[in-house]
Amino acid sequence: MTHHEPSLARQTAFDEAKAKAFAGQMLTALNGAALALMASIGHRTWLFDEMAAASPCTSVELARRAKLAERYVREWLGVMVAARVVTYDPVAGTYTLPREHAAFLTREGSVKNLAATMQFPSVVSALEEEILARFHDGEGMHYHHYGRFHEVMGEVSYQTTVMPLVGSILPLVDGLTDRLEAGIDVADLGCGAGRALLLLAERFPRSRFSGIDLCEAAFAPAEAAAWSKGLRNLAFRSQDLSRGLDGEFDVLFAFDAIHDQADPQAVLRSAHKALRPGGVFLMVEFGASSRLENNLAHPIAPFLYMMSTMHCTPVSLGQGGQGLGAMWGMETATEMLERAGFANVTVTRLPHDPFNAYFVARP
Ligand SMILES: C[S@@+](CC[C@H](N)C(=O)[O-])C[C@H]1O[C@@H](n2cnc3c(N)ncnc32)[C@H](O)[C@@H]1O
Repeated sequence: MTHHEPSLARQTAFDEAKAKAFAGQMLTALNGAALALMASIGHRTWLFDEMAAASPCTSVELARRAKLAERYVREWLGVMVAARVVTYDPVAGTYTLPREHAAFLTREGSVKNLAATMQFPSVVSALEEEILARFHDGEGMHYHHYGRFHEVMGEVSYQTTVMPLVGSILPLVDGLTDRLEAGIDVADLGCGAGRALLLLAERFPRSRFSGIDLCEAAFAPAEAAAWSKGLRNLAFRSQDLSRGLDGEFDVLFAFDAIHDQADPQAVLRSAHKALRPGGVFLMVEFGASSRLENNLAHPIAPFLYMMSTMHCTPVSLGQGGQGLGAMWGMETATEMLERAGFANVTVTRLPHDPFNAYFVARP
């Protein structure tokens, strides 16, 4: 098409109602972005936690409890009230965080702390200038550019994969808990903050655990915690898994860590090779489709594609990789596991975690 030809959009009639609905959709997005940023601040300042314990309260009382400047707290409360997260009694001048909302916004929340996940847009938007430049040069980024990424990742995955690990995830593999009790060799590939292994090493003292990640800074706090707890069955090492995996293991985990790699297929091949007879590879990845058109009904697809654009794809490209992206999808993941030599692959969805798929692969 030359620049002089009318575009398809110009040829079709302009639907006023559709345009108005779309403007509304964009304004909802604008308010959503505002709320996400303020929810991240509410989490990091512990304002949600303090409100859950003190509601109803005035802005002065809340600021005093949270040890924060009242003027900022009052303005933040304005966002929360306008966004219908917090209710406001103008006569008493008090604010209330309903219990049903606190369940999704606090560290003690009975369901899931979505305020922790709200930190991700802030973490990656700090890199907007750099990502903008990458759109032009096609180059990649490196983990050290991403500030608090590992910390936030560790906090979020603690809810999805660490807390439910023993009760819901390990039972996906028949007999695994018994084998861990008896004593086996386990590695977590791309272990990040290493909290899954910290839990397992304490719970299963006869087994031996290795946490492997490209970034030493990611697992350094868990390594220090293991030392202070006297855990001698847990070791971490910094390694580029695309270059191979040393050692033999009975069980390998990879929680949300394959698609970011420089060479995911090589990592899957190494995992297959490193498993002893009877071994098992348990991989967790987003439960999305490899086909964009199938993801329209996915409840957080825009967020996941955004994280993939801002983080997962650039960090893979930055390692000289292919930039598979977070939304590589269950079809491609299964194909790549099979290509790596895994003869038996099952994919399960777990009720506690509507966004991830759990792959159990056996050689
Ligand atoms: C999305 S994070 C997941 C971390 C952790 N498994 C969790 O669930 O919290 C992906 C991890 O893969 C690691 N990673 C990326 N490329 C790697 C490579 N080539 N070799 C080893 N680790 C790598 C990153 O450093 C990061 O910690």
